[in-house]
Amino acid sequence: GKVGVLFGGRSAEREVSLMSGSGVLAALLSRGVDAHGFDTGERSLAELAAERFDRVFIALHGRYGEDGSLQGALEQLGIPYTGSGVMACAIGMDKVYTKLIWLMHKLPTPNYAVLDDQSDLAKVVQQLGLPLIVKPPHEGSSIGITTVRAAEDFKAAYDVAAGLDDAVLAEEFVQGREFTVAILGHGAGARALPPIEIVAPQGNYDYQNKYFTDVTQYFCPPQLDEAILADMSRIAVEAYRALGCEGWGRVDVLMRESDSKLFLLEVNTSPGMTSHSLVPMAARAVGISYEDLCLEIVATARL
Ligand code: DAL
Ligand code: MG
Repeated sequence: GKVGVLFGGRSAEREVSLMSGSGVLAALLSRGVDAHGFDTGERSLAELAAERFDRVFIALHGRYGEDGSLQGALEQLGIPYTGSGVMACAIGMDKVYTKLIWLMHKLPTPNYAVLDDQSDLAKVVQQLGLPLIVKPPHEGSSIGITTVRAAEDFKAAYDVAAGLDDAVLAEEFVQGREFTVAILGHGAGARALPPIEIVAPQGNYDYQNKYFTDVTQYFCPPQLDEAILADMSRIAVEAYRALGCEGWGRVDVLMRESDSKLFLLEVNTSPGMTSHSLVPMAARAVGISYEDLCLEIVATARL
């Protein structure tokens, strides 16, 4: 049938989505799929409905694409779509609600505080210690994230995050190594691809080092004790299932240097599919080409 590749969108990650979408579209076309690109940032839902796609591949990141709102519209239109449903997308787009669900499942995630205004900055420094991480809870690709090393820098970091979001998330800094786990499938069928370790210069895996530089190093599988690797995959799948994720996704994990304890950071329900992205890298490590990965994801599209 006719497959729409939805990309672009209106979030701060639009540029990333343009790269993901063009990669996915080219891959599907190369395999003979009747695929068509559709820029949701430039065209309306009415136009989307008029295309009469049999299914769509959501290659959108961030708000209005990864947060459940588009998924809800597709449900209304009766168009099967890739990835998680409305609820898992909505929760997954919110780093605070994600933590609440994980904590209920006794899954480990760094200590945190939610700031509605600036009145509690000193208290939060007391509670979480320094350094601490400041994030807008609904962004992706590290947009708006600051590592605060000195208390006097907290206010500026708060302002950056508050400029992008309604509330601000402050998180305990976990000194250690950074990993990500790609997951395919859903429910009891959810399976992890091999974890990837990310080694960015000065630990700074920011927007530039995610997509535009070649200074970040990736290790798949990482040099790590087998038992810890297995544990990492297990908790990532549990974290994915706890949120009700479907189709595919990616869970970001830290390992604390002092005691090798694992911490879950967040889930991405519509992960990047750019040339630098991590899910394609993990797939490649087990012999799944980018093209086959795209076909596999399309095959999971449902309502
Ligand atoms: N938010 C970006 C696209 C990612 O997680 O890959
Ligand atoms: Mg993210």
